[in-house]
Amino acid sequence: MHILMTGGTGFIGSRLVERFTSQGYSLTVLSRRSQPGSPAVAYIESLDRVDAGAEFDAVINLAGASLADHRWTARYKREILASRLDTTRQLLETMGRLERAPATLLSASAIGYYGHHGDEILDEDGASNPGFAQDLCSQWEALALEAGGLGTRVCLMRLGVVLDAGGGAFAQMARPFRMGVANWLGDGRQWLSWIQREDVIAAVEFLLQQDYLTGPFNLTAPGPVTSREFCEAMKRHHRTLVTAPVPASVMRLLVGEMADELLLHGQRVVPSALQAAGFEFRYPALDDALAAIC
Ligand SMILES: NC(=O)c1ccc[n+]([C@@H]2O[C@H](COP(=O)([O-])OP(=O)(O)OC[C@H]3O[C@@H](n4cnc5c(N)ncnc54)[C@H](OP(=O)(O)O)[C@@H]3O)[C@@H](O)[C@H]2O)c1
Repeated sequence: MHILMTGGTGFIGSRLVERFTSQGYSLTVLSRRSQPGSPAVAYIESLDRVDAGAEFDAVINLAGASLADHRWTARYKREILASRLDTTRQLLETMGRLERAPATLLSASAIGYYGHHGDEILDEDGASNPGFAQDLCSQWEALALEAGGLGTRVCLMRLGVVLDAGGGAFAQMARPFRMGVANWLGDGRQWLSWIQREDVIAAVEFLLQQDYLTGPFNLTAPGPVTSREFCEAMKRHHRTLVTAPVPASVMRLLVGEMADELLLHGQRVVPSALQAAGFEFRYPALDDALAAIC
């Protein structure tokens, strides 16, 4: 199998590259930085480098500037949008000029697609309420779906907060607990829909292999928790000296708009479409996921 991937150097993508190469797949990975390749992985700095005669069985689209690393200034919000929408447009253009369109496009999105819903349980049919993350995900998904016009099967991966050691949001979430300080944010009642990184990798493989599946898929564990429940679970895996919730006002001061969009409000998302298709989670419960990474 030959796969064209964007974001293949990131937290999720790099693990996917490892997994696919161990299975004998070959990959072409778009990266803005020049990278040493290997017999199985070719890194390209521009999609213009893809020859019209190239044959890809699948395309996996993960590229995008981090939502959590910078304050959301107007300029950085433009970068968040452009890094996903421009890359996806270029990917569509590349797929369109190939002599043989790839059979499958798996394109990342996020549970931010749903916006704020309080305690409502959200499957893939959940409504999309307004907000910056929702606008971003809706535009990103709409573009990816255009690949259907090429005869390509499209799956939209609405990712929850991906947990693993050494990267992603978990590195930031775990830092105070490592110092003995347990905390939740705001009133702690907001939902956190999480997924262990190994389950993301398995779900991507599953979507790749089940060639009848199309449309949106929530990539979240079946057991979302509240921010306070997450804190209690983390306390079971770390020696806690003090519990110090961070008030909403402090979060707003520290990170601005991102606080309300990503941290003080969440979504209670369930992976109905994946489970209906027969996908089984290795880490359905938060305690087991944390035991594997703490
Ligand atoms: N991890 C999560 O918890 C989570 C949750 C929801 C959604 N997602 C989505 O899933 C995707 C993959 O997540 P991840 O955690 O693996 O992300 P990541 O580690 O931040 O990696 C994203 C990749 O995007 C590329 N990139 C970064 N900034 C870019 C820019 N300005 N323009 C173009 N490309 C850029 C980078 O590739 P190069 O530096 O090689 O160019 C990087 O490898 C992201 O789009 C993210 O929004 C992730």
